[in-house]
Amino acid sequence: MSRLFPTAPRRAILYLYINNNSATILLSVLTVLYLVSGFLSPTMDSTRLSNMFTYQIVPGYFLQEDPTTQPVSPNKSTPTYFDYTTHNFGLIDRPYPSEALPPNPKPLTQWQRFTTFLRTLPSTSPPGTSYKLFYLARHGQGYHNVAEAFYGKEAWDAHWSSLEGNGTMTWDDALLTSLGEEQAREAGRFLERQLGEGVVMPGPGEWVVSPLRRCLGTAGLTWGGLGLEGRGGKGEMGFRPVVREMVREVMGVHTCDRRSTSSVIRAMVPEWRIEEGFAEEDELWRADHREEWAEHDVRTRASLDEVFEREGGSDVVSVTAHSGTIASFLRVTGHREFPLPTGGMMPIFVKATRRT
Ligand SMILES: *[C@@H]1O[C@H](CO)[C@@H](O)[C@H](O)[C@H]1NC(C)=O
Ligand SMILES: *[C@@H]1O[C@H](CO)[C@@H](O)[C@H](O)[C@H]1NC(C)=O
Repeated sequence: MSRLFPTAPRRAILYLYINNNSATILLSVLTVLYLVSGFLSPTMDSTRLSNMFTYQIVPGYFLQEDPTTQPVSPNKSTPTYFDYTTHNFGLIDRPYPSEALPPNPKPLTQWQRFTTFLRTLPSTSPPGTSYKLFYLARHGQGYHNVAEAFYGKEAWDAHWSSLEGNGTMTWDDALLTSLGEEQAREAGRFLERQLGEGVVMPGPGEWVVSPLRRCLGTAGLTWGGLGLEGRGGKGEMGFRPVVREMVREVMGVHTCDRRSTSSVIRAMVPEWRIEEGFAEEDELWRADHREEWAEHDVRTRASLDEVFEREGGSDVVSVTAHSGTIASFLRVTGHREFPLPTGGMMPIFVKATRRT
């Protein structure tokens, strides 16, 4: 999408989705599209822009997707989440279709065998079909999580979430608490074991990070110290995150989900890439409209399309984002609901089929 359309219409398209109930804005947006972009006509079906692929979960490979795995205990007062750290990140022990040949004499780990299987898929799949493994991570605890727990969800949604703080604590573009920072480092220690010699889980070749400060902090603390440089192998060439607007949390009303300026972000993570067309000010957050699922899923599709469409992209992609973002990824790919605690992670194995 970014290759086909310059920045301005891209933002206009998003605005169109956000305001799909307003015929006036729709018309003016189409006019802008027409004027700015030589090859768009005002009558084209703009939904095509974020519908390049259909997405499905590949079933049978991860416990998180298996209906018999309980994501979280039913006890709401002290929820216990599925412990992926004691379940090899959820990878199911099983043979793979690529293993018809006699087994390798040197025993491989389950993750090595899965990786081999994943990397045979491009040559064994029909044209227009591709597969990627995503590591979805929720940020560590932020001050807004503390405040929501303190006030209760109802009072938080109805009142406190639209304020920037309460005089003793602030939660606009909420930072990580010290517990949240520790959760992010803990996720890093888990990944270090998983990527190490005993397990050999494949490292990501791409890192997509939400522009909200709690995610910048989480991705840095989790991945930044792992020394991924020089591991060799496809797509494992060191931590090179890209800040992308489309994976930010549900937008609007809640100040914790309004992002800082691009200058502030750049100062926080000077070495990181910020995607092209990323505006200085947050032009998407609105004080009077909280994004609906359908609106959110449009931009999740756009971000999946961006990842799948790009030539030479990695087959293992890390996404550091939010509970709402992850829920949207699960809806768009047809995964069942799977709540994560703050600082939690989960894999999803996604098949994309190009629409004809
Ligand atoms: C839920 O957890 C609390 C605190 O650990 C415990 O006291 C309570 O008995 C649990 N309830 C159920 C239904 O397991
Ligand atoms: C503000 O919220 C925090 C929890 O988020 C709470 O500990 C603190 O007591 C609150 N301050 C006031 C003045 O109510």
